[in-house]
Amino acid sequence: MSDNGSRTPATLEMGDNRRAELPILSGSIGPDVIDIRKLYGGTGCFTYDPGFTSTAACRSKITYIDGDEGVLLHRGYRIEDLAEKSDFLEVAYLILFGDLPTAAQKAEFVHGVTYHTMVNEQIINLMRGFRRDAHPMAVMIAMVGALSAFYHEDLDINDPHNRLIATYRLVAKIPTIASLAYKYSVGQPFIYPQNHLNYAENFLHMMFAVPCEPYRVDPVLAKALDKIFILHADHEQNASTSTVRLVGSTGASPYAAISAGIASLWGPAHGGANEAVVQMLAEIGSVERIPDFIRRAKDKDDPFRLMGFGHRVYKNYDPRAGVLKSSADQVLDLLGQKDNPKLAIAKELEKIALEDEYFRDRKLFPNVDFYSGIILEAMKIPTSMFTAIFALARTVGWAAQWNEMIEDPEQKIGRPRQLYVGPPERAFVPIEQRG
Ligand code: SDX
Repeated sequence: MSDNGSRTPATLEMGDNRRAELPILSGSIGPDVIDIRKLYGGTGCFTYDPGFTSTAACRSKITYIDGDEGVLLHRGYRIEDLAEKSDFLEVAYLILFGDLPTAAQKAEFVHGVTYHTMVNEQIINLMRGFRRDAHPMAVMIAMVGALSAFYHEDLDINDPHNRLIATYRLVAKIPTIASLAYKYSVGQPFIYPQNHLNYAENFLHMMFAVPCEPYRVDPVLAKALDKIFILHADHEQNASTSTVRLVGSTGASPYAAISAGIASLWGPAHGGANEAVVQMLAEIGSVERIPDFIRRAKDKDDPFRLMGFGHRVYKNYDPRAGVLKSSADQVLDLLGQKDNPKLAIAKELEKIALEDEYFRDRKLFPNVDFYSGIILEAMKIPTSMFTAIFALARTVGWAAQWNEMIEDPEQKIGRPRQLYVGPPERAFVPIEQRG
């Protein structure tokens, strides 16, 4: 913990002689925070911060983002290095346990994940209650939440071993559940996990294998998917992670908390944007139509927004978008889709937008969702599965943040306050006297 005792506190002077001295806390890198925990007691005032744009909800050691510089670190390692030099389960170990694993630690972790990939057969029976056209995210919300009905013995969240088992189960079973959702939607039989395949290979196998013939996983696609998983693994206190922390802060089951995180991620302003980007690029249809969509994105009276653009924290290029842009070039080239029209439109859209003062002034750059869908579509993954893949990858981040929250002595049940603007107290009027 940084030295916070010697810092000169912030002083808040209010017109009516109310004042408060507020400690300044410093982290290891990044902005200091003003500790307002005693503000209400000292002034009778709350802070007001819709969307928590300037609010730090917790201390965390997992992920650091410098939005102005476009920097993303996981436990101090740059995302660009992890994407190029590591693999998803190694990054998952780093995010969960704080350091890159030794070979022996990695082997043990991979074995632990591998041998938790199967789901209870009753989960498969549960699936059959859905219509075949149910959105995979709706199915994942339900199925991950349903895991809390299967693991009663693991619900002592104050027992570190119970938390570890729940963490293994979540990371291991989420690809199986995601592939179950897909297979059910296309009316194909479920494919069981294969323990000789790595994490990304196993997911592709469960998605695309059929019982009638052997399925060969394309190592290039598996490597590209593994990189996509790395790039989506964690991202500080975003909306879905904050949802997981808030649900978990009540002592609720981790499976229920992560089911809530999946629900939050589904929104088009968050993880649902990758699906919306590909739909937007299809709607644009050609480079010639881009100016009209740029105009619409700038028109306050038009609800259209440039999906995959803008970010609450990044006021520079999202480093994940940069890695995905070059990965898109490589994967589509390898798949013989170098002239993919959606990629051409995306690149021209980015070029035009970044030269436009509306986007420049508001520091709107491509984010992680702008190129990811183009790669997934080229890999023949259906659009409806894009956010499900985001949720699959982010589960390790949610689990790590949930564990950190439970272990944090400063954390307590999350319970924000409000600025009340409703009617002051008034007497009840019987219905016969109402006008
Ligand atoms: C993710 O938080 C995370 O870390 C999330 C994430 C993660 O890994 O967990 O990074 C993943 O969710 C990425 C974001 C995916 N969403 C989209 O691509 C949807 C399109 N983007 C926007 O909806 C928006 O940019 C947000 C939601 C991402 C951020 O919104 P903010 O921070 O609340 O910003 P804002 O809405 O206040 O916008 C500021 C200005 C506004 O204009 P003015 O009122 O100042 O004139 O920028 C405009 C907005 O209208 N604006 C856009 C725009 N995004 C913002 N205008 C056109 N197109 C856009 N995409």
